[in-house]
Amino acid sequence: MNINWYPGHMKKTKESIKKNLSLVDIVYEIIDARIPYSSRNPDVDGILGNKPRLIIMNKSDLADAESNKIWKSYFEQKKIPVVNVDSLNNKGLDQVINMSYVLTEEKRKALENRGVKNRPIRAMIIGIPNVGKSTLINSLSKRKGAKVGNRPGVTKANQWIKIKGDLELLDTPGILWPKFEDKEVGLNLAFTGAIKDELLDIESLSFELVKRLNLISTKFIENRYNISVEDKSPYDIIVEIGTKRGCIIRGGEIDFNKVSNIILDEYRKGVIGRITLELPN
Ligand code: G4P
Repeated sequence: MNINWYPGHMKKTKESIKKNLSLVDIVYEIIDARIPYSSRNPDVDGILGNKPRLIIMNKSDLADAESNKIWKSYFEQKKIPVVNVDSLNNKGLDQVINMSYVLTEEKRKALENRGVKNRPIRAMIIGIPNVGKSTLINSLSKRKGAKVGNRPGVTKANQWIKIKGDLELLDTPGILWPKFEDKEVGLNLAFTGAIKDELLDIESLSFELVKRLNLISTKFIENRYNISVEDKSPYDIIVEIGTKRGCIIRGGEIDFNKVSNIILDEYRKGVIGRITLELPN
């Protein structure tokens, strides 16, 4: 999904999230476990203020297990509660629910003291495009398939989805803009599909991905494509993968578009491995 985040758009989005914030007791800030830094909105702290917040590191199934732990303790050290979730396969959802009760305890007690009974705890999800907001809403609510409202600026009546006990979730997530600050962040967003192949053309993007994966470990490309990468440039590696995969056009030349799409797609689906692209600092 491509959204052009021009300043007017950001302002409108921020205002609409702030309006919804006043309706909820807790916010689930959803980020991509493969790029926990790059997938956070730069202004989220300012937008949320003191509202209780739970960071949901989604797509944990696609990220390296050890790196998941490192990021979890990083956020915990900053006193930001965090859970690892795989919303496609309903993993970590119980923790989301339990943490929601823990983090809203003060609020619930205050309501009780004022004699307010049976008032549900209300939550909303926010995050940049493609981090899995719809998937998480659907899995928390045990709904199937329904794509929830996903375009900023489109208003529709809010609905509350019952999750468990007296926990309710706003059915419309807040869609935040990604960071635009540097090339590295932009690449991370493009590698993972958060910004759809718009930063660079697909061929340059796959070239950069091969470079990056080999920096993390040469075993990923070697094991997946059964080739040796030693002393080879990303270009040579892509030619070799293309040859192996039959990405050939007339005249025997490599179909770079096709092989690039294969590499990016296989990274995004986790087929090349569970690979986290960045670690704290
Ligand atoms: P959004 O509302 O935040 O924009 O994201 P959405 O739920 O649509 O999810 C984006 C893609 O990420 C979907 O793939 C979805 O299945 C996948 N996804 C969401 N959560 C998880 C998770 O925890 N683990 C894994 N492995 N995948 C997850 P898609 O339908 O193939 O869409 P696309 O990537 O082709 O756009």
